[in-house]
Amino acid sequence: MTAMRLLTFALISVWAAATGVHGQAPVPPPWAYGYNEPGPEPAPPACSKEMKPQDCARRQTLRPMDVIHKMPGSIRTFTEYQVHYDFGPGDWFPEDHPAMPEIVARGRESDKLRACSLCHYPNGHGRPENGSPAGLPSEYILQQLQAFRNGTRRSADPRKANSNEMIQIARFLSDAEMKEAAAYFSAIKRRPWVEVKETDTVPKTRPGVNGLFLPLPGNDTEPIGKRIIEVPQNPETTERLRNPRSGWLAYVPTGSLARGAELVMKGGGKTIQCTLCHGADLNGMGAVPGLADRQASYIVRQLYDMQAGTRESPMMKPVVAKLTEDDMIAIAAYLASK
Ligand code: HEC
Ligand code: HEC
Repeated sequence: MTAMRLLTFALISVWAAATGVHGQAPVPPPWAYGYNEPGPEPAPPACSKEMKPQDCARRQTLRPMDVIHKMPGSIRTFTEYQVHYDFGPGDWFPEDHPAMPEIVARGRESDKLRACSLCHYPNGHGRPENGSPAGLPSEYILQQLQAFRNGTRRSADPRKANSNEMIQIARFLSDAEMKEAAAYFSAIKRRPWVEVKETDTVPKTRPGVNGLFLPLPGNDTEPIGKRIIEVPQNPETTERLRNPRSGWLAYVPTGSLARGAELVMKGGGKTIQCTLCHGADLNGMGAVPGLADRQASYIVRQLYDMQAGTRESPMMKPVVAKLTEDDMIAIAAYLASK
């Protein structure tokens, strides 16, 4: 830590103590974790420390394997089975990223450790229900893998099976694999990824097995309420073919962007301006991760996890302490729009 950062941290700790901020512990906002309703059902698969990572997963069934698919802009062809293959998923655009280390490209089948590229995509941009390590500082990525491994980063919603699997993956990685994966994802340049739309109504959606919201067939709508509904720009190519160039559309409540700008850039009287540590352009600073153009539902989940304490972060604890769910929505909306 630099002296400047230590000083900032000390000042914030004093501020937090003086204002007597304390965490609230309501129910995690279900939509940010991939559910329509608060718990307890559906229960996650049992996942103990000894289990192989994939045994923590919710299983998905794949459609028939024989149809050969193409993707605009790619010279490759894959069956749906190949695209979703756990230990070496089809890579539509190898030209979009450096050569993948083995652990990223294929994982380790003998330990049922699925490829990082399956969930986070070969380009590391990931999906709302997992995360987006592309372009983040490698030091930060390593810290997070250690946090998953040592139990200081868990989901506030125990139903989130893919977070349990991520924890288990971190436990099974060697230090060398962690370093390779961190260096790989860190080196990727980010592409525009999330579009934000303020609205009062949203298409009706259903959450998939791992919590990705997909529009229902037809044109039914419903009030957005106090939620962010994040869907693929192109549900068919995202869900069926895992197109790693097709991004996300985050519907956010009207007024979120202006309120979010106030909180993020000035603190809005409730928090500390994010730019102080995350960089003036919100693209990160030193080992502090970038926040611009990140999946909105992922960001709300992290803010909530940090407030609930299941994701331990001494630096972020005072930042999130006083935030309400509305504040988190506004912040995530603004960050995703950057
Ligand atoms: C089964 C799907 C899955 C696989 C495979 C997977 N991850 Fe993850 N990963 C997740 C989920 C889910 C999260 C986010 C959990 C949350 O909401 O906090 C995550 C989060 C992360 C984060 C945190 C990102 C951030 O911004 O803090 C990193 C880093 C990461 N994964 C690296 C890896 C690496 C490296 C591999 C391969 C060795 C890997 N993941 C494989 C599901 C997966
Ligand atoms: C005092 C410095 C500091 C300030 C101010 C700060 N952050 Fe952070 N933030 C961090 C650090 C450091 C991390 C990395 C996690 C850790 O070290 O615990 C982080 C991590 C995060 C993450 C997790 C990112 C990921 O990839 O999972 C989010 C989200 C976040 N901050 C949002 C915010 C928002 C929103 C604000 C402003 C309201 C803010 N931060 C203000 C230091 C800060």
